[in-house]
Amino acid sequence: MKSEIIKVTFSNKVDNLSYPIFVGANLIYNCEKILKKFIHNKKIILIHDKVFYKKNEINESFVAFINLIEKFTSSVNLIGISGGDKTKNISELNHIIEKSLSFEIDRDSIVIAFGGGVIGDIAGFAASILLRGINYIQIPTTLLSQVDSSVGGKTGINSRKSKNLIGSFHQPLAVIIDINLLNTLPKREFLAGLVEVIKYGLIKDDKFFHYVEENYKQILKYDQSSLKEIIIKSCKIKSEIIKNDEKENGQRALLNLGHTFGHAIESFGKYDGTIIHGEAISIGICLAFKLSNKMGFCSLIETTRVINLLKNLKLPTSFLDLSISITTSKMLEKFKYDKKNKNNQLTFILNERIGKSFIKNNMDVNVLTKFLDEEI
Ligand code: GLY
Repeated sequence: MKSEIIKVTFSNKVDNLSYPIFVGANLIYNCEKILKKFIHNKKIILIHDKVFYKKNEINESFVAFINLIEKFTSSVNLIGISGGDKTKNISELNHIIEKSLSFEIDRDSIVIAFGGGVIGDIAGFAASILLRGINYIQIPTTLLSQVDSSVGGKTGINSRKSKNLIGSFHQPLAVIIDINLLNTLPKREFLAGLVEVIKYGLIKDDKFFHYVEENYKQILKYDQSSLKEIIIKSCKIKSEIIKNDEKENGQRALLNLGHTFGHAIESFGKYDGTIIHGEAISIGICLAFKLSNKMGFCSLIETTRVINLLKNLKLPTSFLDLSISITTSKMLEKFKYDKKNKNNQLTFILNERIGKSFIKNNMDVNVLTKFLDEEI
């Protein structure tokens, strides 16, 4: 399978900046040429998911990757961390920072994040503050990180109050997406990633939503060409959105469809695996569509179509699918910490139809309370 390069472009006040996303099969074994340009003779801090380097169970692709980059870098220094959202905290960040400094790094040193969304987010954040900012490369190994978190430069950790409240925008030098890494991804993680894929269709592209609706059985068989199709399309939609809004002053907020509800729900699971990010977003998307319908923005037919696709994928679609106790007032309390809020007013991402999301500022709390009371 030929690999493909997508260019992510975004502008700052001075000029247009860009970086490549490489998508292909077996890229991990064949990325010497791609990587040499960025990391030749440099000191590497390879922040990876612990599962790839256990004593009695070493991941073949990961070891091949280390052997490959050792040939043309000055040194490869490993930091293994756990992949769950529980890891995205300030003490783990401190551990990464102190350990990185112990390798006597300099400003030319490069962080490589090798793992899922949590690894990419915390490693990217560490890179953004180490020595006031060093470069990093993303090698996402889960569907969710390949289609979403590795692209666009959002990095960070969770606060006790809610998700991703501490962080920075720090764009990577490059993103390398090896589709074959998904072959060993557990089904639950895969489905959670698929929610973010579906999200792109819902926000901006009804044809893409239709493609997933028509092909989800093939996708669930990890069919290589459908996987390549959905990953490339997702990365293209995301890079198109962030092109003019790197720091989320406007349209980038659309990528948050389902996330106001979702982040709140996820935090009630205490990040212990009871509910993982994509599952919470699945419920969040259904709630966003139901609310859009209730407020007269979106038809019942379209809302039902969205819920049915997620149900067919055996994803949770309502509070009834959860084993955690949640109340309207607890949900409203969590919404206060949403980063989209302005002047203490809540902002939600709602839909006019499949393929057209919009930003709803000044959400009426009474409407929201009534809605949640009916749903919970
Ligand atoms: N995951 C949402 C964003 O990157 O803006």
